[in-house]
Amino acid sequence: MVTLLRVENLTKSFGGLIALRNVSFHVKKGEITGLVGPNGAGKSTLLNMVSGVYGPDYGSIEFNGRDITNASPYKICRMGVAKTFQLVQSFPEMTAHQNVTVGALFGSYKGINLDEAREKASLTLDFVGFSRDKFHNPVKNLNVVELRFIQLARALATEPNLLLLDEVTTGLNPSESKKAVDLIEKIRDMGVTILMVEHVMRVIMSLSKRIIVLHHGEKIAEGSPKEISSNQMVIDAYLGERFL
Ligand SMILES: Nc1ncnc2c1ncn2[C@@H]1O[C@H](COP(=O)(O)OP(=O)(O)O)[C@@H](O)[C@H]1O
Ligand SMILES: [Mg+2]
Repeated sequence: MVTLLRVENLTKSFGGLIALRNVSFHVKKGEITGLVGPNGAGKSTLLNMVSGVYGPDYGSIEFNGRDITNASPYKICRMGVAKTFQLVQSFPEMTAHQNVTVGALFGSYKGINLDEAREKASLTLDFVGFSRDKFHNPVKNLNVVELRFIQLARALATEPNLLLLDEVTTGLNPSESKKAVDLIEKIRDMGVTILMVEHVMRVIMSLSKRIIVLHHGEKIAEGSPKEISSNQMVIDAYLGERFL
């Protein structure tokens, strides 16, 4: 199995606080890899570094055999990495369709014209199950669930090889969450590799091939869902009664 993402000794501090310390792992092509850990463990920081939002203090990131350690977010995006944000961020005055069109334009390294980008946005919104009636609503009028699917569509419209998902099911009810899980499986089956942060254990355990556990900025475990759920260090630090 080919390694798509390789992270070595990644270290990042904010002021005096060490958010990540010597974290190393890899993500295999075509798989869903889960990233879990308590609040403040460094999960979002890690995804932000892979997507180029922050450069690391130390360590390296390799994507598809190329060093992207200090590359800018737009270059990383064009190389095929897309991310959704834990806090839903979009362009509030723009419509749902325009938001996704931006993704299509931004992600294209060949350059596509506006009509092609609009068409791709429509197809991608259909794919995530977003209602056509709401395509032209400004996103500020949409609810948090709709915004999550817009975000996902915007990331997908960049045609990623690696999709980074930060708590996509947070705030969704069980049926919306099921819809998101089905969608994530469909995206994986299309050949997109996924690295996802997720708090709902049922979701992460059923989707992930492998799981990486962070605690206080350090990797404390890595393995199959079965290995992780029976790892005593993980149970003590994170799972507790969550999964028992
Ligand atoms: N931009 C930032 N500036 C200062 N501190 C930050 C910043 N981003 C994250 N942190 C801190 O780094 C630690 C890890 O945060 P984060 O990666 O968001 O954790 P998680 O996503 O696992 O909950 C936390 O203590 C958080 O307060
Ligand atoms: Mg987070």
